[in-house]
Amino acid sequence: MNNKIRTEMRHKRRQLSPSAQTLAADRLLGVVSRLREFQFARRIGIYLAHGGEIDPAPIKHLAEIAGKICHLPVLHPLKDNSLHFVRHQYGDTLKANRFGIPEPELRQHRMVPAWSLQIIFVPLVAFDSAGNRLGMGGGFYDRSLAFTRNRPGSSPLLIGLAHSFQQVDHLEASPWDIPLHGIATEQEFLSIKRKSIKRKSIKRAPIN
Ligand SMILES: Nc1ncnc2c1ncn2[C@@H]1O[C@H](COP(=O)(O)OP(=O)(O)O)[C@@H](O)[C@H]1O
Ligand SMILES: [Mg+2]
Repeated sequence: MNNKIRTEMRHKRRQLSPSAQTLAADRLLGVVSRLREFQFARRIGIYLAHGGEIDPAPIKHLAEIAGKICHLPVLHPLKDNSLHFVRHQYGDTLKANRFGIPEPELRQHRMVPAWSLQIIFVPLVAFDSAGNRLGMGGGFYDRSLAFTRNRPGSSPLLIGLAHSFQQVDHLEASPWDIPLHGIATEQEFLSIKRKSIKRKSIKRAPIN
């Protein structure tokens, strides 16, 4: 079932014209820029759009203008199929990884632990209204964010970014799947309320 959804959504995403993508990205910026959590965050994780993913470039641009520090995920070339977050500013060099996705170079001094980020914007293939996330099938974000299970209520706030058509009625979650706290689309922000998740307000953390 999940693979069928993956194939269908990835196909739909790739069908979008460049102008439809630009419009969606601009509208997504409108939705995200109104979030208090985004306004107060200093350190964020974000990604570069690939394969028709909704493009968070305008969000990254605004964040940089506002003095926030942005980080991109980097795949460790050899081990553990998890992601490392590396500081990246507009203009810094990028290099394609083994999936052909551009990423910054894995430089020790630019790497930060994922738990030190206040918001991580996460790409996805499909989502549901309970905050379940379907990725590309590699489990990279699940592995890298597995630590959040032991610290419910702490940042990072995990916000999925998606085209609204990527919402499905219900996704079957596996035990290792890490759910999202919210999903932003070009149309709206969907906040996921879960009894077990108490979020620490991140507005009190203007640390550089
Ligand atoms: N925390 C983890 N530790 C080890 N393996 C994991 C972890 N999270 C996910 N995986 C593995 O990654 C694979 C893909 O995960 P899946 O949730 O299907 O992909 P995606 O999240 O990309 O849609 C699964 O086979 C799972 O065993
Ligand atoms: Mg998963």
